[in-house]
Amino acid sequence: MFSKSGQTKDVATPRICDVVWHDGEFIKWNDARVHVMSHVLHYGSSVFEGIRCYATERGPAVFRLREHMRRFLNSAKIYRMDHEWSIDDFCDASVELVRRSGLEQCYIRPILFRSLDEEHPAFGVNPFPNPLTCYIGAWDWGKYLGDEAIEKGVDVCVSTWNRLTPNSLPAMAKSGANYMNSQLIKMEALLNGFAEGIALDDRGYVSEGSGENIFLVSNGVVNTPPLSSSVLPGITRDSVIQICQELGLTIKERSIQRAALYVADELFFSGTAAEITPIRSVDRISIGSGGRGEITERIQKVFFEITKGERPAPGPWLTYVREQVQAPEPATPLTKGADYDSTDVPPARVAKSPVPEFVASAHASK
Ligand SMILES: Cc1ncc(COP(=O)(O)O)c(C=O)c1O
Repeated sequence: MFSKSGQTKDVATPRICDVVWHDGEFIKWNDARVHVMSHVLHYGSSVFEGIRCYATERGPAVFRLREHMRRFLNSAKIYRMDHEWSIDDFCDASVELVRRSGLEQCYIRPILFRSLDEEHPAFGVNPFPNPLTCYIGAWDWGKYLGDEAIEKGVDVCVSTWNRLTPNSLPAMAKSGANYMNSQLIKMEALLNGFAEGIALDDRGYVSEGSGENIFLVSNGVVNTPPLSSSVLPGITRDSVIQICQELGLTIKERSIQRAALYVADELFFSGTAAEITPIRSVDRISIGSGGRGEITERIQKVFFEITKGERPAPGPWLTYVREQVQAPEPATPLTKGADYDSTDVPPARVAKSPVPEFVASAHASK
């Protein structure tokens, strides 16, 4: 019924942390399970985060941990998820998880969702009777849009699917349900031979990729759609804005027409998973020189130097896991606002935690 082309592609996952943080305790990977009648499975009631931890000379360092956890709390607030955790609880749990994983670099995935109270099951849409539960897992993750993508760029399409309307599902919350829309965009792109799809908003202006924000460079000015174009307030997006400011580049948040994509000098995606990935064509129309643009490369270089701890960041962006130094709350808030292997994805190996016993975290007593 469906073309199989593109279906086997996935990001390489060389190692997975064998412990998972669950409501204040570290449990074994194999014990991190839910009931099939959990509310989240039927009604999409989850919010989550995606955070990268980079290998640096000072050991693993989590990138913009507090900003991610602030967004996590905001997503939960929008969905009236009345939990007991603080930003420090989530930051401390993530740092401890990375430490226990023994991974030098990884992707951290906190998720808060409505589960099932087996003593008093509730199966309706009303989420309130269902208990909230939170997990944080981690794994080593390859280049989201392919190893070569960072240098050579990716071929993308404009999706026939629109991004969410602001008053249907809020794009500013990172909720599991939003990713059904992302899946439509991603599947269509892959099956048509593209690495990613760009969605327009409900008015027809450029919104974002299925899992990335987008930037357009024209006449030396860097532009990105405003949050009102139904985009996730990306942490990498904010990092790019701040890097542009440091580099003295003009950066503007403004509505972008679809046609402007085709005639841009440069285009690139930003995202925790995709990092900064140039776009070399849209709908088979070559962008600029058909490769990574000069401004994109400058921004990318600074971004990777910062994430590797080789260059000072505009703020306290790195949390060094081994030094247990937590990045303080940033003085200024966010600016406004595979290995793509077609066939052989190596089997995931589970990383052995250097700490064998499951010691409750500092906040486990909560
Ligand atoms: C839909 C969407 N937009 C944008 C982004 C980029 O956000 P961030 O840079 O915070 O990862 C992501 C990734 O999380 C995403 O899923």
